[in-house]
Amino acid sequence: MNLIIKNGWVIEPKTNLSKKADVAIIEGRVAEIAENITVSPDDPFIDAQGLIVAPGFIDIHVHFREPGDESKETIETGAKAAAHGGVTSVVTMPNTQPPIDNEGMVELITKRGKDLEGIHIYPAGCATKERAGKELTEMAYLKKAGAIAVTDDGNDIESSAILRHVLKYSAMIDLIYLAHCEDTSLSEGGVMNEGFYSTILGLPGIPKEAEETRIERNIQLAKLANAPIHIQHVSTARGVEIIRNAKKQGIRVSAETCPHYWMLHDGLLESFDTNLKVNPPLRTKEDNLAIIEGIKDGTIDCIATDHAPHTVTEKDAPFQEAPFGMIGLETLLSCIITGLVKPGHISIEKAVKLITLSPASILKIEGGTISKGARADITIFSPDEEWTVTENSFKSQSRNSPFIGKSLYGKVKCTLCCGKVIYCDEGFPLPKNIPILPSFLS
Ligand code: DOR
Repeated sequence: MNLIIKNGWVIEPKTNLSKKADVAIIEGRVAEIAENITVSPDDPFIDAQGLIVAPGFIDIHVHFREPGDESKETIETGAKAAAHGGVTSVVTMPNTQPPIDNEGMVELITKRGKDLEGIHIYPAGCATKERAGKELTEMAYLKKAGAIAVTDDGNDIESSAILRHVLKYSAMIDLIYLAHCEDTSLSEGGVMNEGFYSTILGLPGIPKEAEETRIERNIQLAKLANAPIHIQHVSTARGVEIIRNAKKQGIRVSAETCPHYWMLHDGLLESFDTNLKVNPPLRTKEDNLAIIEGIKDGTIDCIATDHAPHTVTEKDAPFQEAPFGMIGLETLLSCIITGLVKPGHISIEKAVKLITLSPASILKIEGGTISKGARADITIFSPDEEWTVTENSFKSQSRNSPFIGKSLYGKVKCTLCCGKVIYCDEGFPLPKNIPILPSFLS
């Protein structure tokens, strides 16, 4: 026996288990889940009394800025932020500098991830060369090098004909296309949601239609190409409605939203806090509610963070000049518990599924389960502990979180990847005979 997690409440979405049990890990895999597994004096064990034991979280939308923008985030600092947030697998977006649009670049990310020996890094490759929307990438080679999806995230693909080819080709080689939906002819120059608040604040707006018309078009093109499509960062009520209708028609569409689209709204921009500047922009309170409805009825399949680090210097600028994006890996669980579970919108079991089994199924990657034989990627968390987010809370190299100063419920206590501890909360009683993976110590 390598390690036993005892006395925790196990939530295992694949087998629909939610009960008090122990989890035994042998050679990095789950050997057994049962009540009262006996521990011999030499067996290292973690006491998870009063805590939830769940599969390691999977975030299918993160921006680690390597290569090109290492002052914002590297693969290493991003991985540490992930471990702190209970996230053991991430899908990295390819809008780095240069972008991940060829085999060599995908290999670079894959290798950096492997060298780190910590969390699982799954690179997404570009759908078009230089994310320029003109010429398709060599997707089969990207896949061979380790890409698990294609996307020009940060950009939509302007030409419907090119997007049709992207969808057709990516489906042929079984790589899903992750769609950033934005008509830039409508959004260009905008810095926040277009509406009442953009008018009173005198800031240029981004109409919801910039996103919605493209969600509609991109789904139609997926239908035409007979390909699956995944809609990223859904932020509006009508966006949810379009996806709901498409699903009813049997179109193979999946969707993600991000915590800020139910936790925050455009009225908050009265503060001019640039950490609230994100693309798609924060919408209205009504949109927040519709996003929650979409999560409740399954229209939204999973939750991703769109973790987008930017330096303090860049964000310390007039609102119109600051870059779009906010970090999210380290507040993911807390936003889900505070905004969705505590108010009674969803159960804790559904919450876990949204960040484990669901994203794993969309991308057909390993993980999302701790059933017998599964890789022992495990997150142990307290659903009730309240904590206040501060600038010093983060392992990420960046600090651009709109939740700084906020009190949230839900705290990750210990994260394991392949049976090895990669994060342990201060004060959590990790026995001395269970080491933290050295590269994740600081
Ligand atoms: O706010 C955003 N930031 N939205 C995106 O689509 C890209 C991201 C980034 O890369 O900073």
